[in-house]
Amino acid sequence: MRHVLSLFDLSSDEIRRVLEIASELKQRFVEGIRPPCLDRQVLGLLFEKPSMRTRVSFETLIRHAGGSSLFLGSDVGWGTREPIQDFIPIMTSYLDCLVIRAKRHEEVVAASHYSRCPIINGLTDYCHPCQALADILTIHELLGSLENAKVTYVGDANNVAFSLALACNRLGVPLTIAAPTQYQFNEETIDQLNAVAGDTFIQQTTDLHAAVDGSNIIYTDVWTSMGQESESKQRIRDLADYQVNTELMSRAAVGARFLHCLPARRGEEVAGDVIDSRASAVIQQAENRLHAQKGLVVWLLTEANGNH
Ligand code: CP
Ligand code: NVA
Repeated sequence: MRHVLSLFDLSSDEIRRVLEIASELKQRFVEGIRPPCLDRQVLGLLFEKPSMRTRVSFETLIRHAGGSSLFLGSDVGWGTREPIQDFIPIMTSYLDCLVIRAKRHEEVVAASHYSRCPIINGLTDYCHPCQALADILTIHELLGSLENAKVTYVGDANNVAFSLALACNRLGVPLTIAAPTQYQFNEETIDQLNAVAGDTFIQQTTDLHAAVDGSNIIYTDVWTSMGQESESKQRIRDLADYQVNTELMSRAAVGARFLHCLPARRGEEVAGDVIDSRASAVIQQAENRLHAQKGLVVWLLTEANGNH
């Protein structure tokens, strides 16, 4: 059975196929057509952390496609009420697909070993593959193709940065990470990422101005991710010079666009006037969560796993 626990689970061609389905279904949605391609399928959402975009986009897309969803919060007792070897096989025998948002990536991997239906990672401390699919769809829409994309990610090389980097490597998009050394990917992670690269490899630098020079996509995420709240003060101090502000945007390529997975902390990783500017495409990017994930679920339940 195929799961999508990270983008390592998808080849370059499979990512392209997911995005192709996503774009086709988005176009039809814009025309007012919602094909019932997931008729009566039931999607579970097992979430250990807060969410707005991921939860609402999954719950909505399955309804567009003729199915329904169940939101499963802490009251179902995942990890507290019964062992995983009872909990996961039973829960997944009721469902057609399960989206999990977990504190620890290992929990999602463990769940996949006991699962009777495909699992999608809806964010862990390690990665956020659904976000990266929407990011790539958005970059493609903004630039008309991925061919001339040059992406700079500014700030903490976190879960969102990891999936973005993997997607860029899979699709041959050059990506530079600009961060203080201790917030960059470590050597082992870089080796993992570059193992799937074609001709393009991740670059990392502490030189923010050199990193954004010539880039047409500037991306950032929060300095303090969910679960790191106790480190917040230190992180704000360490990353203070890496804010995406108007001055930094003016050093990027002419017409460069700004992306952020959201939620954002205006005044920390991004200045309010950048996220609210014409260069910002964050609303389109968030909207694309719906379409990219619709492509992913349709692909996973029809082409990758057939009739489950
Ligand atoms: N970007 C993202 O995953 O948002 P939520 O945490 O609101 O789902
Ligand atoms: N890096 C952030 C992303 C939230 C969508 C976090 O993990 O909290």
